[in-house]
Formats: sequence, structure tokens, C-alpha cells
Amino acid sequence: MKHEIRFIINGESRSLTVLSQQTLLEVLREDLGLTSPKHGCSTGECGACSVLLNGEVVNSCMVLAAEVDGADILTVEGLATDDELHPLQKSFIDHHGVQCGYCASGMLISAKALLNRTSRPHEEEIREALVGNLCRCGAYADIIKSIQVASRARR
Ligand code: FES
Ligand code: FES
Repeated sequence: MKHEIRFIINGESRSLTVLSQQTLLEVLREDLGLTSPKHGCSTGECGACSVLLNGEVVNSCMVLAAEVDGADILTVEGLATDDELHPLQKSFIDHHGVQCGYCASGMLISAKALLNRTSRPHEEEIREALVGNLCRCGAYADIIKSIQVASRARR
């Protein structure tokens, strides 16, 4: 079955026809070319596909595209503005928060949600915010440091 949906993606209004069985992750990557959310486990366990849906972190592999009609969605492509990286992106680069990078988009999205609600999070709050994001490279210490530094340069 086909569904007509309209939503905001990274600040832009879009309309699409999606199939009942299509996930948000599939539509973002394959129909919109937004490849920052990654296919990891596809079972809601790893967080590689994380996006903000109406300000909340969701695993886009677990959301049907037909459900996002009227929603406001943010992916990592929407973090940078005017050719300038977001402080979180800069900090991940400067403090080695990215190794293979497969988890990075999900980590950035969870970190963005955290900084939206807490300007100067403690380490424990950062750890809690990342509980749904797995890093197979074990770069957690550098990821946490990246978020801590970015929170001081937050915009
Ligand atoms: S790919 Fe969605 S949670 Fe792992
Ligand atoms: S940097 Fe490789 S999975 Fe996290």
C-alpha cells in the first residue's frame, strides 16, 4: 500500500510517496540520499541509524516511514550551517571521537539531543545519553570527551 507523507527534514518541507513496509531509515538513505543514518543491526539495538524525530532520538530502522507524516526530522546532514561544522562535529574530529566512523552519526544525534536539553552535561549524563549507541571500535572515552568539549562551545 502507498502513503503520501509530508514532513520537515533538516529544516526543509518534503512530500513523498512511501510504501507501508518502508522504514524511515530506508527512505532517508534511498529516497532522499541522506546517508548519515547507517544500517547497523536493523533491530533497534545499535543506534547507528539514530535521527531526531520531533526532538527525540529514535532508531530510524524501527520507524515506518508512513508514521512520520507531519513530523520534524533532523539528521547529521542538518547539523552544519553555512559551510561551518556544528561544534559537536568539530569536536569529534579534534578529539578523535571518530575511528571507523560507523557509529558517529548516531553518537552525534544522541549528543545533539542531550545538548538541546542540558547545556553542560556531566560525564554520567553523557554516558546515559549514549546508552543506545554502540561503538564497535570502543572509542567511548574519546566520544565522551568530544561531547564534553563541544558543550563548552555550544551554539
Ligand atoms: S540499525 Fe537501527 S538500531 Fe541498529
Ligand atoms: S568509531 Fe567505529 S564503530 Fe564507533
